[in-house]
Amino acid sequence: MKKKLNIGLIGCGFMGRTHSNAYRKVSNFFDLDYKPVLKTICDRNEEKAKKFADQWDFESIETDWRKLLERDDIDVIDICTPNNLHAEMAIAAAEAGKMIICEKPLAMNTAEGKAMVDAVEKTNVANLVSYNYRRIPAVTLAKNLIDQGKLGKIYHYRANFLQDWTIATDLPQGGDGLWRLDAKEAGSGVTGDLLAHCIDTAIWLNGPIKEVTAMTETFVKERQSVTSGKVEPVKIDDACAFLARFENGSLAIFESTRYARGHKALYTFEINGQNASIAWDLHDLHRLSWFDHRDEGQTRGWRSIHVTDGEHPYMDKWWVPGLAIGYEHSFVHQVADFLEGLATGTPAAPTFRDALMTQAVCDAVLSSAKNKTWETVQYE
Ligand SMILES: NC(=O)c1ccc[n+]([C@@H]2O[C@H](COP(=O)([O-])OP(=O)(O)OC[C@H]3O[C@@H](n4cnc5c(N)ncnc54)[C@H](O)[C@@H]3O)[C@@H](O)[C@H]2O)c1
Repeated sequence: MKKKLNIGLIGCGFMGRTHSNAYRKVSNFFDLDYKPVLKTICDRNEEKAKKFADQWDFESIETDWRKLLERDDIDVIDICTPNNLHAEMAIAAAEAGKMIICEKPLAMNTAEGKAMVDAVEKTNVANLVSYNYRRIPAVTLAKNLIDQGKLGKIYHYRANFLQDWTIATDLPQGGDGLWRLDAKEAGSGVTGDLLAHCIDTAIWLNGPIKEVTAMTETFVKERQSVTSGKVEPVKIDDACAFLARFENGSLAIFESTRYARGHKALYTFEINGQNASIAWDLHDLHRLSWFDHRDEGQTRGWRSIHVTDGEHPYMDKWWVPGLAIGYEHSFVHQVADFLEGLATGTPAAPTFRDALMTQAVCDAVLSSAKNKTWETVQYE
């Protein structure tokens, strides 16, 4: 008999949908001790919450997240709200003794992130941050190949996350849908939104980042605020590029923008080692590109591994070899690993403490861009 785990999910936007979908599917495909139950959806917008509960089969709704925390029938609080709410909600959830899954970035800045880590470690509640790209099978395969030493010494790490949705100068800032353009709700622009993913993957694959030097730009300087109705300065970074040095001696270059016309969500990374290189592209997410210098000379070249075989990460849980899965499945894997962690006592990563490292790199990047300096990442 599986143990039921009642989920109280806050925020029924984009991530609310991906997480709800994951809770609904996970027990069909993974044989785990725990089974999530879609107990309550909470959103400040009552109409939206009612519609969402109906569509996704949540048992009840709340419009005040603090009431959700008071309820004895909720085991896990899943935070899918804008970034400025993560710390307050997570700290209160930890104090209420709830397990927590929190969307990325962990917080608005490292100081807030540290308070969140303190809260979950003091109350000893299970916690996870939703850096879901780790759990795309091709990305997990990259991690396995690196950990097996197949690349040898790593020299270079290169990552991009390119979008083009904020180029229009008449796009307002703030409020539903556009909170990402308002620094009060988002904390930062592409750094916390997109580069945070690249940094999380990079640290996971290649170890801690020691120092960074960055440049940022805000191309559209003023936008109308949805909340005040006035034209206000834009305080987020529209684009950011930074150089980094990892603790293992390898060099990195990261770039992110919302002004790369033609690109919708082009997350790519390439890693060059002494023996081999790997490359991955979110637009072709079930493939991993692999070059091995040790291959026989006349057939040596880049291969495109179709990561759909039973021996590939997570793939034995899905269909048959050759049939691809997609973006949504990274969230199913995330929930599966979280539940597995509860059963085995080895927490799934990244925990709040792990994700604090990414937050520290983001802070160093923003501070470097502001001060036009190299910054050492302050992990403690
Ligand atoms: N892991 C990923 O790849 C990924 C992708 C997108 C977003 N995110 C993160 O997920 C979080 C949410 O992003 P999104 O795209 O789902 O946003 P969204 O705007 O689509 O949804 C946010 C929801 O939160 C609700 N909300 C806002 N304030 C609230 C409050 N006080 N109480 C209850 N509900 C409230 C809004 O009404 C809305 O329904 C952000 O932190 C974002 O960075 C992560």
